[in-house]
Amino acid sequence: MTNKKITIKDGQSNNEAELPVLESILGPDVVDIRALEKDLGYLSHDPGFMATSSCESKITFIDGNEGKLWYRGYPIEELAEKSNFIETAYLLLNDKLPNNNELELFSKNISSSYNVDPAIKNIIEVFDKSSHPMAIMTACLSYLSAKYHDNIDIQNKDYRYKSTINLISSVPVISAWILNYILSEQFQEPSEKRSIAENFINMAFPKLDPDQKNLSSKAMDIIFLLHADHEQNASTSTVRLSGSSETSPYAAIAAGISTLWGPTHGGANEAVINMLEEIKNSDKDVEHYINMAKDKENTFRLMGFGHRIYKNYDPRAKIIQKIAHEYLSQLDNTNPNKPLFDIAMKLEKFALEDDYFVSRKLYPNVDFYSGIVLKAIGIPQSMYTVIFALARTVGWVAHWNEMIEDKNFRIGRPRQLYTGKNKTSYRDIKDR
Ligand code: ACO
Repeated sequence: MTNKKITIKDGQSNNEAELPVLESILGPDVVDIRALEKDLGYLSHDPGFMATSSCESKITFIDGNEGKLWYRGYPIEELAEKSNFIETAYLLLNDKLPNNNELELFSKNISSSYNVDPAIKNIIEVFDKSSHPMAIMTACLSYLSAKYHDNIDIQNKDYRYKSTINLISSVPVISAWILNYILSEQFQEPSEKRSIAENFINMAFPKLDPDQKNLSSKAMDIIFLLHADHEQNASTSTVRLSGSSETSPYAAIAAGISTLWGPTHGGANEAVINMLEEIKNSDKDVEHYINMAKDKENTFRLMGFGHRIYKNYDPRAKIIQKIAHEYLSQLDNTNPNKPLFDIAMKLEKFALEDDYFVSRKLYPNVDFYSGIVLKAIGIPQSMYTVIFALARTVGWVAHWNEMIEDKNFRIGRPRQLYTGKNKTSYRDIKDR
């Protein structure tokens, strides 16, 4: 804490409140407003939490203006180049990179928990094949919360570790089973010898040739790593709020999955592919769509361009752009998705050179490229958000653990600005 403080004076009562300023390591300092209520009787009001820090966290740092994303202090670019998803998961959970023994033990703990209860397959089969996979996923997590209901002990470190490992291992296996089911394939079994990404690709596409499996697993591993955490976004905040009631961690993660499902959070990469399909099937060229996006009379926007936080380049987009280009350069002209990817590359080129997009800093975002890479790997569109949830489970459990270990841990209970009726007397139905 600094010695800085902000003094607020109530113009009516002349009372004052001193609000201490909490110093952040990076990013804006934070005003502790608790004295507002205690000393002056006021609440603060901030719909959408645009100016609210909801917790203290040491996990992820984002600077949108500078295009920075760091996990535990490590730039995402460096992790994507030198690390992998499992090691990054260890880092996010433990605040340090593992040594050889630690990594081996962590990887072993994860892969030995791939043996998810087979009853989950029955849960999946209850759903119609056209159901959205995110809804199926939440149902599977509800099943796990029922199964592990008896011994919830969130203050116990061992309980938390076991639940953490179980969640990180189970969600990818369940995701692959959901994919098997919606593709009308047989359920595939996981293998303890494989990493999370290799296992997912092997379960999802058992008939793929080994080279292709290898290529897809590498791309998938980086996609998982890039999506593993993004500080206090809507789904992570949901997991924290839900978990703050000391509910089952499986139930808290189910709440996070439900939040991530929304189109303004996890669903943007699906929208990118829909847009590319629309352009492909129309008789208009790419330039026509660029002009439509620039036309202020038209509500059309280029999906996968621009970002609320990153007003410089989204650092994840740069990394995945490279993978997309490498991946797509290997496709031959007979690939049915080739025309779609050609459109994507044309859009990218136009937008990066066009003054409208350059002056507004509307760069392609992570969803633009992740949609393309997932499509190239062969993942059905409705599964894109599931892939995101699979990766983000690591961030969610890291935040859940951090919240419980916080000395200020208590149930989250926002207040409100009440604008409803004042006290009203009940009138009998015949008198209304
Ligand atoms: N296509 C065309 N014009 C755009 C686009 C776009 N994709 N995005 C923004 N603009 C224009 C706006 O019209 C506005 O122009 P003006 O200044 O002349 O009025 C200017 O750029 C600024 O736009 P805002 O809407 O103020 O930017 P904001 O930060 O609010 O929105 C958002 C960011 C929602 C991501 C927006 O860029 C967008 O809708 N993009 C397309 C959807 C998308 O890709 N979403 C995924 C984001 S990534 C993620 O969530 C993981």
